[in-house]
Amino acid sequence: MRINGRTGLLCLIGDPVEHSLSPLIHNTALKELGLNYVYMAFRVSKDTLSQVVKAFKVIGVKGFNVTMPLKKDILCFLDELDPKALKIGAVNTVLNRFGRFIGFNTDGMGVVKALEKNNVKIDGSYIVLLGAGGTGRAIAYTLMDRECSIAILNRTVEKSKMLALEVSDGPAMVEWGPLTEGSLKIHLSKADVVINSTSVGMKPMDGETPIPKSLLRSGLTVFDIVYNPLETRLLREAREVGARTIDGLEMLLNQALESFKIWFEAYPPIEQIKNALEDVRRGYFAHR
Ligand SMILES: NC(=O)c1ccc[n+]([C@@H]2O[C@H](COP(=O)([O-])OP(=O)(O)OC[C@H]3O[C@@H](n4cnc5c(N)ncnc54)[C@H](OP(=O)(O)O)[C@@H]3O)[C@@H](O)[C@H]2O)c1
Repeated sequence: MRINGRTGLLCLIGDPVEHSLSPLIHNTALKELGLNYVYMAFRVSKDTLSQVVKAFKVIGVKGFNVTMPLKKDILCFLDELDPKALKIGAVNTVLNRFGRFIGFNTDGMGVVKALEKNNVKIDGSYIVLLGAGGTGRAIAYTLMDRECSIAILNRTVEKSKMLALEVSDGPAMVEWGPLTEGSLKIHLSKADVVINSTSVGMKPMDGETPIPKSLLRSGLTVFDIVYNPLETRLLREAREVGARTIDGLEMLLNQALESFKIWFEAYPPIEQIKNALEDVRRGYFAHR
């Protein structure tokens, strides 16, 4: 990558960002397409968010990604919102369109694309979605447009009920319930796919799992969007019982590709990006 006086800037803001793989994904994509941009990660807190967004406008960044804990707070500082991002109430991608900052959410599409690219059927399937936080909302709002059944289970059951009501006016059939063993037993017995969008299994909760192993079985696809650790306890136990597993890197890749498309109106070639992520995956399994 040759940086010169015309090099444009794309960024990630959030806290922490030091271990993010987004710079790897986007800089590989930019290099592949020979685009004169660089993608940098900046640690930004809620307190400094408004100053940072103003500065981004002044220097004319092409766009930026937003991660935890800023995905909701960023809404106040944008000029326009994509209708889905407004309903979800969270933004992970911002486009600078002629000096106006427009917010999008690509998290839900990242999950749907990851499933489809792994040949998991969505239409006609019964999908159990664990979690109704920011990412759970994005996933539910994307799945609602498909001909599938969704059961949303969350620790705070009121949130799963609210979300189910919000997404029930599309083609998907939507149910809701608590994230308890009894409820999991009922819904997982009918499920084709289960998606974990809770933070259970993420460090420092990496000894925990949202689903008892006894409820996992072969024939089920288990997608854990947590990627720290890459193989969560849920994925390890799913693999041990012969279930199909998909890890959080698949979502990370696909939400990034959707962001890239918003910025450059085209998907990048993915071979080199996939190779780079495979190196990360190999490194993880080699050093466990
Ligand atoms: N792979 C990717 O590209 C990607 C992208 C985005 C996020 N993620 C991961 O997705 C996870 C969720 O992120 P988020 O932004 O949606 O977070 P969030 O808005 O804070 O939501 C957290 C969710 O986890 C649930 N939860 C937390 N602790 C729990 C516990 N001890 N037992 C049961 N449920 C619990 C919460 O339930 P309550 O509502 O009851 O609190 C809520 O549903 C994180 O691990 C994040 O790293 C991955």
